[in-house]
Amino acid sequence: MINRGFPAEFIAQVKERNDIISVLSKSITLEKKGKTFWACCPFHFEKTPSFAVNEDEQFYHCYGCGESGDVISFIQKYENLSFYEAVKLLASSAGLELPQYSNTMEDMEKLRTKEKVLRALNLAKDYYCQCLKSTSDSKVLDYIKKRDFNSKVIEDFNIGYSPDWKSLIKYLSQNNVDLKTMNLAGLVDYNDNKEPYDVFATRLIFPILNNLGDCIGFTARSLENNPNYAKYRNSTQTIVFDKSKTIYNIYNVKQFKKEHQKLDYIIICEGTIDVIAMHKAGFKNSVACMGTAITPYHAKELKKLVDKIILCLDGDSAGQNATYKAIDILLSAGLEVRVVSLKDNLDPDEYLKKYGSSELNDCINNAIDGIEFKINLLEKNHNLKDNFEKNKFINQCMEILSNLNTNSEKEIYLKIISKKTNISQDILRRDILSNSTTLPKQDKDENSILISRPEGYLKAQQFILASIIHKKDYAKGILDKDFTFQNSNYNKLFNFAKNCCINNKSYTISSLFDYFDVENNPDIAEIINFNFNNFGDNLDIYFNECIKKISYLELKNKQEELTQAFKNEIDLEKRKEIAVKLNNIAKEIKNWR
Ligand code: UTP
Ligand code: MN
Repeated sequence: MINRGFPAEFIAQVKERNDIISVLSKSITLEKKGKTFWACCPFHFEKTPSFAVNEDEQFYHCYGCGESGDVISFIQKYENLSFYEAVKLLASSAGLELPQYSNTMEDMEKLRTKEKVLRALNLAKDYYCQCLKSTSDSKVLDYIKKRDFNSKVIEDFNIGYSPDWKSLIKYLSQNNVDLKTMNLAGLVDYNDNKEPYDVFATRLIFPILNNLGDCIGFTARSLENNPNYAKYRNSTQTIVFDKSKTIYNIYNVKQFKKEHQKLDYIIICEGTIDVIAMHKAGFKNSVACMGTAITPYHAKELKKLVDKIILCLDGDSAGQNATYKAIDILLSAGLEVRVVSLKDNLDPDEYLKKYGSSELNDCINNAIDGIEFKINLLEKNHNLKDNFEKNKFINQCMEILSNLNTNSEKEIYLKIISKKTNISQDILRRDILSNSTTLPKQDKDENSILISRPEGYLKAQQFILASIIHKKDYAKGILDKDFTFQNSNYNKLFNFAKNCCINNKSYTISSLFDYFDVENNPDIAEIINFNFNNFGDNLDIYFNECIKKISYLELKNKQEELTQAFKNEIDLEKRKEIAVKLNNIAKEIKNWR
């Protein structure tokens, strides 16, 4: 049997050799309570754990956001990999050889190109590193000295050098990389004479690694400050490099977290050089975006690693405005945000040179929270002595506050705004109240009235099926009976469980992902991810109520059908027969009350 391009036995083997608990605990902190392991979900914002991992079933489910799956799908989501790539990673860490993969031609072609491009980039990285180590070019050595790069930093960041326009091409050719791949990798371009050249030639090279440590591109600095050349030249967009989705130094930070078993926060800087300077000064948890603004994508990726961000962008006004915009994006991803504003318009690299690491450490310890930073920056940009400007300032502050979740949070900042404007907190509070719209109250007590709702029939069926699929003891008896679900996907699941029961075969919840296309089948996903926590302690009693409810509703349906049939029947004998049946049903229904 083939499972998404791989032999099913191989996938089973990969899962067997990669216990979900040990794999996941490399990335998230799991805490065992009873039979279940719990963690804060890496895929959505939360402060109390609702991400549950079941060891017996080799299966995870987040009751908060609904994400669920097996060890393979976790690696896919956490590391942003395709199914093939995740299987490859898990197989290699378990020492399993990858068998023939047979997917559609198109996918295969893309996969092969990607692998070839990554190999070329990794080779180029090593080559550039070697060139820097062996160079005696004084221009390079002087620059390294000026920037204070010691051998440790050079190693930690794989810093390299491209000596000329051709030698990389020669090196890669010798290693069986063709020109087409070099070009696809963004390493080589063609001049007017159609001759290939190394696009990073004569520059200092900073490899960019993805979160698995593969080189996906480069940023390369000119050794001179010649305004005719761009200071930095970055890889163009390729099959493996998208700068808007890249976080510089993410691999080192991930490794750091693994080594130390925890990471309190990540510092975001503006420049790649700033990250290196921070690292050298002992702030090993620093990253940068590749000359782009911080996006929700970046925020989501960072949220997988930490709950708290320190923004430490350049101290100039461009850096401060970028900070202002980044705050909301990071907050929306559920991150706690603090801001360091460096004086004298300095960037972290310059700041460290001028004031040293202990001063920067003080700045980090005194970082102000994101909302207060926004209010302060607004204050700077408005002349509060002018009534008109003051009004504008207050309105913008109110808008910030209206996005806060709790009244107590609002109170904290009201105090600050009141101080700045000399307007009493009471008045400001009233302004907020008249601005905010109240959300409709949600029906909390859904389950107690569940069965009597029109959709009660479906809900009851879901509960019954979920109890069967999740192998609840009280549901076992029903597998001997004929039971029909309204939904064909439900019937598939029911028949699966029934067949397993008949053939005395056991299954784990995680293996359901192999038999059913869970990702593309919301009906099945809903049953697999069923949350029994909402149903109180007496699941067995509730189960029996559901069975009764369904029988009752079926009787009502039958009654309806027969009533119609009775009305349409003209044959007197047949009408009589139907009337008898109707009578019996009416009696049965009466017994329900
Ligand atoms: P900066 O001009 O602040 O550079 O640009 P920097 O980090 O201080 O670099 P040094 O100290 O002069 O070497 C910040 C970021 O903007 C991007 C880079 O990502 C850089 O780190 N940038 C800047 C480019 O991509 N290209 C450029 O030509 C300049
Ligand atoms: Mn700089």
